[in-house]
Amino acid sequence: MPDLIIKGGTVVNATGTAQADVVVDGEKVTALLAPGTAEALGITADKVIDATGKYVIPGGIDAHTHMQLPFGGTYASDTFETGTVAAAWGGTTSIIDFAVQRHGERVEDGLAAWHELAGGNCAVDYGFHQIIGGVDEESLKAMERLVDEGITSYKLFMAYPGVFYSDDAQILRAMQKARETGLLTMMHAENGPAIDVLAAQLAESGKTSPYFHGIARAWQMEEEATHRAIMLADVTEAPLYVVHVSAKQAVQQLAWARDNGKNVFGETCPQYLYLSLEKQLGARSEEWGEFEGAKWVCSTPLRSETDGHLEAMWQGLRTNDLQMVSTDHCPFCMKDQKTLGKDDFRAIPNGIGSIEHRVDLLYQGVVDGRITLPRWVELIATTPARMFGLYGRKGVIQPGADADIVVYDPNGHTSIGVEKTHHMNMDHSAWEGFEIDGHVDVTISRGTVLVEDGEFKGRKGHGRFLKRDLTQYLV
Ligand code: URP
Ligand code: ZN
Ligand code: ZN
Ligand code: ZN
Repeated sequence: MPDLIIKGGTVVNATGTAQADVVVDGEKVTALLAPGTAEALGITADKVIDATGKYVIPGGIDAHTHMQLPFGGTYASDTFETGTVAAAWGGTTSIIDFAVQRHGERVEDGLAAWHELAGGNCAVDYGFHQIIGGVDEESLKAMERLVDEGITSYKLFMAYPGVFYSDDAQILRAMQKARETGLLTMMHAENGPAIDVLAAQLAESGKTSPYFHGIARAWQMEEEATHRAIMLADVTEAPLYVVHVSAKQAVQQLAWARDNGKNVFGETCPQYLYLSLEKQLGARSEEWGEFEGAKWVCSTPLRSETDGHLEAMWQGLRTNDLQMVSTDHCPFCMKDQKTLGKDDFRAIPNGIGSIEHRVDLLYQGVVDGRITLPRWVELIATTPARMFGLYGRKGVIQPGADADIVVYDPNGHTSIGVEKTHHMNMDHSAWEGFEIDGHVDVTISRGTVLVEDGEFKGRKGHGRFLKRDLTQYLV
């Protein structure tokens, strides 16, 4: 007898939809049965979940998170435990976080530290990308060993001078190493040195409120860096994945590169689809006054809605000039964290927390007619799996795949806010007041129910380290 049957639902994969019952044995999906087949064959299970009228989708994969990231003199407020519990609530069953190496540190030590932080603490499966914050002979050598460790992608920063920044020579050398090893280069594409000058000039002229973070990080700085990254990747013949794209002009760079046959990919985030610079500028509260805007300080920054940046992100998702949506989950509380920059926006720790809401926020795109149901699944689960070497195990409901499954109710409703559906370790929500015409009813990870009946039934330590293969996106 199988352990679990999910009955009566509409199974949605990236390839399309089908009425099917999903049979789970142990940690794996073992069969998809046409409706009525289980009864005809006399198959019952220990547990039956009724998914009538609901979607049965592969568990979400959030390929860009920063649990406990040291940043701006503090640490991202979600631990691997709190962040992955929130992930499960929101229908995400795998995360890929970023292990950190900074200038002067050893890559091996950074990676070991991340294993130490995450090991035994995650409620969902987890993998790592490697941040290389100091490209030198030693870190280039260390990159050669990452693939064997199951770390098949790494991130460079064209922003944050003095912290994670790499100059063009360093980027070129890292990309050459990536070409040699098969590692996928992920790029934070903003012109950091120029941004820092603009930011200093603003601050020195008294423009210190959170809003000016976005003014300093002008779209030109993103377009230029995106173009430079594309060209550096092209000359090294290494594929490129640009993270957290928010500028319309950066998407145009990606589209141009792809039209010209370059192996270039782009990710955007829910905040760049829904939240705008205008919203941040207008934000005021009794508690924080105009410092309220600090809740939306992230990099790349929120962009102007009137200039068409948000619409361009949706369009990029439709035309596949952008391939996936990750959160860049990097939460900081207002109290004691964002307030580090109360008098100067440059000291506000950068980041927004969204890990719990990505599946819902993208589903709203289906309701609003912006993307199709299979495209929703492709963006939140299938492409992340293919891009980052997990496909087959993850990102699809098919026999042999891990039973990472979400039962999603299109007739349900989700109200987002700190007092409502919020499990992230944050004292505010960047998504306060958002209403979603759908609901994550059940979250299952490798056959284990994590969330059901409005209750968290998982545990920290359930999540396992995901040793990833090389990117499957190009083959
Ligand atoms: O604001 C952001 N994105 N914080 C996290 C660090 C990064 O650049 O991804
Ligand atoms: Zn970044
Ligand atoms: Zn990030
Ligand atoms: Zn429901």
